[in-house]
Amino acid sequence: MTDQDIHILGLESSCDETSAAIVTNGTDVRSNIIATQHELHEQFGGVVPEIASRAHVQKMVPTIEKALADADMQWSDIHAVAVGNRPGLIGSLLIAVSAAKTLAWSLQRPLIGIDHIHAHLYAGALDGGTLQYPALGLAVSGGHTSLYLTTDPMHVKLLGKTIDDAVGEAYDKVANMLALGYPGGPRVDKLAAEGDPEAIRFPRTMLDADSLDFSFSGLKTAVLYHVRGKPSGKGANVSFQRSVDELSPTERANVAAGFQAAAVDVLMAKVDRARTQLAQQRDIHVKTLVVGGGVSANSRLRQALSDYGKTHQINVNLPKLSYCLDNAAMIAGLAYHYYREHRFDDLSLQAIATGGR
Ligand code: KG4
Ligand code: ZN
Repeated sequence: MTDQDIHILGLESSCDETSAAIVTNGTDVRSNIIATQHELHEQFGGVVPEIASRAHVQKMVPTIEKALADADMQWSDIHAVAVGNRPGLIGSLLIAVSAAKTLAWSLQRPLIGIDHIHAHLYAGALDGGTLQYPALGLAVSGGHTSLYLTTDPMHVKLLGKTIDDAVGEAYDKVANMLALGYPGGPRVDKLAAEGDPEAIRFPRTMLDADSLDFSFSGLKTAVLYHVRGKPSGKGANVSFQRSVDELSPTERANVAAGFQAAAVDVLMAKVDRARTQLAQQRDIHVKTLVVGGGVSANSRLRQALSDYGKTHQINVNLPKLSYCLDNAAMIAGLAYHYYREHRFDDLSLQAIATGGR
């Protein structure tokens, strides 16, 4: 540590992870504490906003204290307090935003509000990762499936997004259909490894020939009909031909593998389309392909991205698994760039639920 080092405390509570981290000079992660609530939501098969918000209240202070202790720092060492203030579940976001405001005010340090999705796209720079700009960013989470052009950590421009479900949402719903429980994404990923990705050919929705948007609702419905048969009736009276219990373990694994193959094919096709369009239509040649959000932990997507990088000789930045899921290190890291430009917020900083999907 030197006197010039800038230590930023980051807080994050946008969904069902309570996290606090201290990052030095934007990349050196001194601590990154993540308290998950998965066990609280499992019985409901998804995140219950009320429960998430209350759990953040309980976990926020001990998580911050542990982040400070793990980094071996005192309050006086902290130069600024950063918080993911958008987008996310409003009741969840509010907890970290309130905590960050309180700390910034009482420590008399600057407050920096950070876009959670921009932070996901920065996660690959932590711990010495290489992010060269311009970069093509793919944000894939439970709430987002979007492509971005980033020209530096603070300049992120949306190129395309899902018009219906996010890919993580589709993973979670398919996990439900296969009775795998919550959180669904990692369980589908694991089961897919035992199946044949070619056994069932699910649809790949590409939209218009030049579209950079995504759609996963058709794929989700195709999986549902494959697992349960065609439905009869509507709304609350809908009934299906069979239950998931009638599928053999091999059939279930093939459904997981076939779904995953279709989802990843669509993501990769759009990545390729975006890279080609940027080069041909705007003479922008991306140097790095960066991925962020929970689904970037997916094994097939990681493999496909790194193969793509080799084929097209482009640097592919895959964040460490602990930086893929929601975490405060990415918030504190990105905030360093705002700190250097004195881009601070005041105590009127709001939690904002919505954002482009
Ligand atoms: O970024 P994140 O932690 O929270 C949001 O901001 O949404 O992403 C959570 C999403 C969930 O939908 C989860 O099922 C998915 O990421 N996910 C995965 C994997 N690990 C987490 N999806 C596919 N494969 C995985 N290995
Ligand atoms: Zn996230």
